[in-house]
Amino acid sequence: MKESELTTLLHTMTLEEKIGQLVQLSSNFYSDAEGALTGPMAQMGVTEKLVADSGSTLGASGARQIIDLQKRHLEASRLQIPLLVMADVVHGYKTIFPIPLAIGCSWHPELAEEAARIAAREAAVSGVHVVFAPMVDLVRDPRWGRVMESTGEDAFLNSVFARAFVQGFQGNDLKNDRDRVAACVKHFAAYGAAEGGREYNTTDLSEWRMREEYLPAYKAAVDAGCKMIMTSFNTIKGVPSSANRWLLRQVLRNEWAFDGTIISDWGAVRELLAHGVAEDEQEAAEKAIKAGVDIEMMTLCYPHALENLVADGRIPVSLIDQAVFRILNLKNDLGLFESPYRGVDEEKEKEIVYCAAHREQARKLAEESCVLLKNNGILPLQGHAKIALIGPFADSGDLLGSWSWKGEPRDTQTLKQAFLKDASFDTFFAKGSGITQTNSHFLEEAVVAAKQSDVVILAVGESSAMSGEASSRTRITLPDCQQKLFAALKATGRPIVTLLFNGRPLELGSLAEQTDALLEAWFPGSEGAEAIVNLLTGKTNPSGKLTMSFPRTVGQIPVYYNSFNTGRPLAENPQEPKYVSKYIDCPNEPLFAFGYGLSYTQFMYENLKLSASRLMEDEQLIVTVTVANVGDRPGADVVQLYLRDVAAETVRPIKELKGFKKIFLKPGARAEVSFTINEPMLRYVHSDLSSRSDSGRFEIGVGDSSARTLNAAFDFVKKDGVPR
Ligand code: IFM
Repeated sequence: MKESELTTLLHTMTLEEKIGQLVQLSSNFYSDAEGALTGPMAQMGVTEKLVADSGSTLGASGARQIIDLQKRHLEASRLQIPLLVMADVVHGYKTIFPIPLAIGCSWHPELAEEAARIAAREAAVSGVHVVFAPMVDLVRDPRWGRVMESTGEDAFLNSVFARAFVQGFQGNDLKNDRDRVAACVKHFAAYGAAEGGREYNTTDLSEWRMREEYLPAYKAAVDAGCKMIMTSFNTIKGVPSSANRWLLRQVLRNEWAFDGTIISDWGAVRELLAHGVAEDEQEAAEKAIKAGVDIEMMTLCYPHALENLVADGRIPVSLIDQAVFRILNLKNDLGLFESPYRGVDEEKEKEIVYCAAHREQARKLAEESCVLLKNNGILPLQGHAKIALIGPFADSGDLLGSWSWKGEPRDTQTLKQAFLKDASFDTFFAKGSGITQTNSHFLEEAVVAAKQSDVVILAVGESSAMSGEASSRTRITLPDCQQKLFAALKATGRPIVTLLFNGRPLELGSLAEQTDALLEAWFPGSEGAEAIVNLLTGKTNPSGKLTMSFPRTVGQIPVYYNSFNTGRPLAENPQEPKYVSKYIDCPNEPLFAFGYGLSYTQFMYENLKLSASRLMEDEQLIVTVTVANVGDRPGADVVQLYLRDVAAETVRPIKELKGFKKIFLKPGARAEVSFTINEPMLRYVHSDLSSRSDSGRFEIGVGDSSARTLNAAFDFVKKDGVPR
C-alpha cells in the first residue's frame, strides 16, 4: 500500500476500530475454527467486537493455526485489516540456539546473525510476523534470572550483537523477503539494573550512567532499523517506562528518531496502578498513550478508557491516529495488506522447521558459545577409555533454556545419547542427584560408576526454570545436593571434568579449585549435547570467552570489568592495609573475568605497535599486535582491544572494550591483527550529558581477556585544542 492509501484507510476507521488496533491479546482470545470463544475472555471483559477489531495477537504459531486465525480475522474485520502475529522467538523457534548469554560468549556476531536468520525463517513459515527479540538489556547482576537473555555486561559488545540480531531477523527487504520477520527490541530501558537483582524491581540510575552504559545497545538496534520496541517493567527516574514521556518521546522518538511501533510489556499499562502512578485504568491509559505506547499488551486500559478520554478532551484523537498509523505502517512494511498470509506455508513448514541444516548451525554456535574455564590438562579426553557420566544433566533434555518456545526438551538429544554414539568410550552412567534433591541411592550409584572409570564427567547446574523471567535467586550457588555429589565423587580420587548448565554466572566456591576441568556450557540448545561431546573429545577446540564476570561470592555483586577507578584504588596502593577500596574478606576481582576463556592450544601475544604516539582528531591510529598459535592444535582466539581515558571531565572506566576480532590459527601460525582507533571511539558522556571527546592521554590494552593485555599509550589532540 502507498502511504496515501494507508492514510485513507486510517480515515475510514471508526474510533472504536482505531482503538482496537492498539490492543494486543494472546491467541487464546480468538475463536477456534468452530467459532467458539475460548480463553479467559469473560473474566477480562473482552468482547467479540474487540477481538475482531484487535490489531495483533501474541503466542499463536503453526502454519495451519495462523492461516485459520487470519482467515477468520479478515472475515470478522469490517475493513479486512490483517492481524499481526507476534511471538517470543528469543533464541530460536523450534531449532533452539544457545541462550543469548551463551551466544555473546561466542564473540561471533556473524554466527548470531545467522542464528537470527534461521529463527526468522522458521517463525515466518509458521506464521509469525514479529519476534520479541533481541533482548539487549545490559546485565551486571547474576541474581536476576533474565541475564540469560542478554549478551552480557558490556555496552559495546551488546551493541554489536544487537545489530547482528536485528539484521538477522529483518534482513534488507522485509516486505518481499518472506523468510524474515520484524524485530522488537526489548526491554526499554535498563530492566537489567533492577535493584538487588529482584525481578520487576525498581531501577534508579543517573541519566549520565544510563546514557553512557545502558542505552547504547538499544540505540544500536534502533540505528540498525528495528521495527518495534518493547517497554520495560521497571521505573526510570521514578516513572515506569510505559508512562515515561522522557524515555519514549524525548530519547526514543526525538533524539533517536525512532519511527517504529512501541509496545508495552505484558500487562505493563495496567501495572501503572500497582506502581502507584495511576489511580485507575483511565489514568493509566492516558499516561501510556501520552508517553507514546502504541500497543497495550494483554490489559484493556485502552479499550476501556480511550474513547472517554477523547470525548472529555483529555487527549486529542490525533494521538490515537498517530499510534494506529504506526501499526498500519508496520503491517504495510511486512507486506500484509497485499499478502495477509505472508510467508506462512504448511508444506514448507514441515520441510524447514528443525531441519538438519538449521540444527547443524545450532551445533556450530553451541560449540563456540561454551567457555572452558579451567583445564589442568585432562581435556581433551585422550586415552580415557572408561568414562563415568554423572549428574542431573547427564541424561537430560533440559538443555534448551528458558524462552525456547517450540523447542522440545523431550526430543532433545541428551549427553548420554551423544556419548553412546562414540564407540571409543566405555560409558558408565549414573544420575547422582536431582537438580535440587537427592537420595543416598543416587549417590551410591554415582560413586560406583566413578570407581569403574578413568575419568568422571560431571554434568551439573540449574534447571532451565531457575533462570529466565521471574526467576531471581539470592543464592547463586549450585544446589546443595549437587555440591554434595561433587564432594562424594572427589573422594573417589578420580579426575573430574565438570560441565555447567546454567542461565547465569554461578558462585562456584571450592568446586572451581577442586575440579580438574570446568566447561561452562550454559543452556546450549537443540544440538548442545553433540557440541559438548565434540569439545570434550577435542574434535572442536573451545573458543568461547565470558561476557559476564563470575563473582567469587554473591557479596561482590555487581562485579564487572569496566568499573571506575575510585579515589583509592587498591591496584595503585597494594601496600596500604586499610583505607583503599576493597573488601576485607575477599579480593576485588571476580573469579573469572569478562573476556576470559581457555583453549586446548596456547596463543602468544607480542609486538604491540601503534602507528603513531599521537592521534589528531581527524586522523586514525592503527594498533597492531602479533598473535601466534604456539600450541599443538588448531584453534580460535578472540583478540580484544581495550581503551582507558586517563583523565577526563567525568570518571572513566579502568578499561573499556572498543573492538575485537576472532581469529583462527593453525599450530605454529602467526597473524598480525590490527584495529583502527578514531575520534568517535573516544567520545563519552560528559556531565552536561553531551557526548564528545576531549584531548588527553589514552591507554591501550590488547589481549585475550580483560584481565590480561599488552599495554601502550597515545595522546589524543583535538583540532580546536579546547581543554576539557
Ligand atoms: O516478550 C515478553 C517479555 O520479555 C516478558 N513479558 C512477556 C512478553 C511477551 O511474552
